[in-house]
Amino acid sequence: MSSVTALKVPITITKTFTQFLDEHPGLRYVFFGGKGGVGKTVMAGAAAVGLAQRGHRVLLASTNPVHSLTSMLDQDVFGKPTPVEGVPNLWAYEIDTKDTIERAKQDIREKISWFLKYADIKGRADEFIEAATMNPAFEESAMFENMIDLIFKDEYDVYVFDTAPTANARRLLGMSAVYTLWVNKMIQSREEARRLRAQLSYSKEAVQEKDPLLDYLVTFEDRIKRAKALLTDPEKTAFFFVTLPEALPIAVIRRFINWFNEFGIPVGGVVVNMYLDPDAVAEDADEFVRNRVQMQQRYMKEIENLFGPLVRAVVPLFETEVKGVEMLKRTAAYLLA
Ligand SMILES: Nc1ncnc2c1ncn2[C@@H]1O[C@H](COP(=O)(O)OP(=O)(O)O)[C@@H](O)[C@H]1O
Ligand SMILES: [Mg+2]
Repeated sequence: MSSVTALKVPITITKTFTQFLDEHPGLRYVFFGGKGGVGKTVMAGAAAVGLAQRGHRVLLASTNPVHSLTSMLDQDVFGKPTPVEGVPNLWAYEIDTKDTIERAKQDIREKISWFLKYADIKGRADEFIEAATMNPAFEESAMFENMIDLIFKDEYDVYVFDTAPTANARRLLGMSAVYTLWVNKMIQSREEARRLRAQLSYSKEAVQEKDPLLDYLVTFEDRIKRAKALLTDPEKTAFFFVTLPEALPIAVIRRFINWFNEFGIPVGGVVVNMYLDPDAVAEDADEFVRNRVQMQQRYMKEIENLFGPLVRAVVPLFETEVKGVEMLKRTAAYLLA
């Protein structure tokens, strides 16, 4: 990338984002986590642009209705993977979250209704369905499944996900062991129920019936296992954490990094965003600005102490928000400096 974008920063970057990419030629799934507003969507966009410029066929996908890709790219990429104008090799896809969640609800509704009928439970199917679907965890898991679908379709070299629920990915992957136990228990009790039914009835009809809920659970378990294998492979997957030189965003990613290490999910590194270059600030600048610069310098030291060799890039605070392909290219030049 061009050298004009090299930023003088008060910390040592032992391995840059670009060097990390060079060392991980098989990288396919890239994520950005961090506190709200720190620039996750922007970094996902910039990384996608940078990876496309390196020659990979890249899909930038978002399941996050806040600050949509359509508005960041200034191009309509809603509802289906769409080539991004001005960036060869790059497609962007803003997933219709409402539609995804509605379809997932319909799906589970059918399965639960079937199950209740089978189990001879009378009445309030709606209550069960509501309990299963009217919570944020259900919506998050529907979005997660959507992401897994994209991954399994395997149509691009690299996928950059702008997903809000980083914590959820961790939870879903972490729970797969628990899930296996649960499914096995389900299978056991289903078998027992079938045997009982067979003993009580003269006909063997019911015994042969298929059980769509159980089928679904087994398939889901298998999908989670496959996803887990991909998303815990440090050659294929990297989660990057975005912070600002400020206390709260630092505290948030510190926690994330600990969780991710615990769960064996590969941490790619840390990106510092919205850095104010002291050299760019005149000495007679407003006291407010000079204070901010000084504060950032202190937190840069803290970032170096806490994350040291994990820091991959520092991106400056631009004079405007990051909107449109040209601004994303500018950001990419810093991220991949
Ligand atoms: N380096 C930067 N310079 C200027 N504005 C930025 C920078 N990074 C992000 N922004 C702006 O900050 C806002 C929040 O960024 P966004 O990527 O939506 O954060 P997140 O996805 O983490 O919530 C957006 O308006 C974005 O354009
Ligand atoms: Mg965002």
